[in-house]
Amino acid sequence: MKTIIVIGALGKMGQAALTGLSNHKVITAGRSGSVDYIVDITDENSIRTLFEQVGYFDAVVNTVGFCEYASFADMTQAQWMTTVMSKMMGQINLVRIGQEYIADNGSFTLVSGILNIKPIPYAIADATTSGAIDTFVKCVAYEMPRNTRINVVNPTVLAEAWHVYGEMMPGFQPVPSALVGKAFERAVDGFINGEVLYVDA
Ligand SMILES: NC(=O)c1ccc[n+]([C@@H]2O[C@H](COP(=O)([O-])OP(=O)(O)OC[C@H]3O[C@@H](n4cnc5c(N)ncnc54)[C@H](OP(=O)(O)O)[C@@H]3O)[C@@H](O)[C@H]2O)c1
Repeated sequence: MKTIIVIGALGKMGQAALTGLSNHKVITAGRSGSVDYIVDITDENSIRTLFEQVGYFDAVVNTVGFCEYASFADMTQAQWMTTVMSKMMGQINLVRIGQEYIADNGSFTLVSGILNIKPIPYAIADATTSGAIDTFVKCVAYEMPRNTRINVVNPTVLAEAWHVYGEMMPGFQPVPSALVGKAFERAVDGFINGEVLYVDA
């Protein structure tokens, strides 16, 4: 049994990840609500406080990455930066700071999303930062300390989120949360490193 911090546990992707992690001791974290620890992934001090408060952990599963949606012509620098500071730098900082605290042989699992492979209107910031995270994971895997691993789950839209995003995504086939949970399970319980785990229909 591993001790796993699941960040964004109350969100739709967090709930999907949890379906694959039931064999482990899970510590939940998020920005608000009924979680074990409150953390804001856009704030370095908040991230450091989380890891110091938790103490021992074998794995970090992050499912947070806030994105702004607008056409490229309309998206402002502020909207770009909000997305970059959450979905890209927030996740990179979780790894940059977390590597100081994580147990030997531990693992980080991040989240991106299929829109960098299958673009749709209004999602340029999501797609761009998802692509950045996929690249970050593939490349930083060579620099991870103490036999720690890093992977990213790149899912298509969840069936449980289809009522929110379905209208924006004609021609997409949603996947059940339980299937996405399997990808998080493979990342945490397997030996893979530097991989993008696509979950698409
Ligand atoms: N849902 C899908 O079908 C799907 C598919 C592929 C990829 N993704 C990606 O998965 C990620 C999460 O999406 P989701 O659908 O799970 O969103 P969601 O249901 O809105 O959940 C997001 C969770 O993250 C928390 N959060 C937001 N900003 C935070 C921050 N700065 N620090 C800590 N926690 C924060 C939210 O807390 P609050 O409630 O306090 O705001 C909420 O609990 C996104 O990057 C999305 O692009 C989603």
